[in-house]
Amino acid sequence: MSTSPNLTFNDGRTIPQLGYGVWQVDDATAEDVVGRAFKAGYRHIDTAKIYGNEAGVGRAIEASGLSPEELFITTKLWNADQGYESTLAAFEESMQRLGLETLDLYLIHWLQPKRGKYVDTWKALIELQKRGRVRSIGVSNFTVEALQEIIDETGVVPAINQVETHPYFNQAELRAFEADKGILHESWSPLGSGKGLLEDPVLAGIAEKRGATPAQVVLAWHLALGLVVIPKSVTESRIIENWGALEVSLTDEDIAAINGLDKGEAGRIGANPATADFA
Ligand SMILES: NC(=O)c1ccc[n+]([C@@H]2O[C@H](COP(=O)([O-])OP(=O)(O)OC[C@H]3O[C@@H](n4cnc5c(N)ncnc54)[C@H](OP(=O)(O)O)[C@@H]3O)[C@@H](O)[C@H]2O)c1
Repeated sequence: MSTSPNLTFNDGRTIPQLGYGVWQVDDATAEDVVGRAFKAGYRHIDTAKIYGNEAGVGRAIEASGLSPEELFITTKLWNADQGYESTLAAFEESMQRLGLETLDLYLIHWLQPKRGKYVDTWKALIELQKRGRVRSIGVSNFTVEALQEIIDETGVVPAINQVETHPYFNQAELRAFEADKGILHESWSPLGSGKGLLEDPVLAGIAEKRGATPAQVVLAWHLALGLVVIPKSVTESRIIENWGALEVSLTDEDIAAINGLDKGEAGRIGANPATADFA
């Protein structure tokens, strides 16, 4: 069975580059499919309070017989819990649901600029890391300006920024800034969230040449760019297929062709972090 490469955070810890995301998976299904993902080889699971399946992920971890040292678990602080004290409390509730003593990675889920609480929230994550409750801390859906602001305010550089990233919206500018600061980039909706990307003829052509599927080609592109990537599927054959991306090699020409699919802002499928404001 393949194993995922690890990437190294700016805090010295590592993260398995290929993980498994569970957005839009109900709690009972999460228990089942995370168990299937472990069997396929995944050791890195991406959940969040708002997904409503931290408990199901926890039950899958418990049932797997895998030790915490063999796993890498990420969860995220929800928008309504932003603020210093409320973050500390929300973290403990997530840990109860997951059934874990120590978390591998805690992320601020969205910037929520209108709330004006992300700096205090970031300070709470720094405190949780100091207390040894979480090994690594990062953010999700942060802009260049907000990344710079939390670094300036605290001196602590996030380990990672998890952001919408796929061939139609490849985030080249944000990635260049992060690389300069030593922040890893993590791709959410890496397959375009099932909204047509996988039918692109350029991807189909590369897939045929490499003896792979379009989804494997897209995941191999994320891996080749050095991004952490967390595809979601509730379909066992696709869970296994996506893991198989670890064996797919792309040429520089393939990568350049996939880079060329970027549509800029028109390629975005989710909310814009710079303006998104929701509870
Ligand atoms: N931080 C954030 O704000 C944020 C936002 C969105 C997502 N995320 C994270 O990123 C993860 C992945 O994003 P996502 O769930 O939006 O989308 P995604 O992984 O890009 O795509 C998932 C969709 O693609 C389908 N699919 C998966 N593998 C496939 C394959 N090999 N061939 C064809 N179709 C395939 C899935 O169908 P089936 O499931 O029916 O097989 C599902 O409809 C989430 O689960 C979550 O952990 C984070």
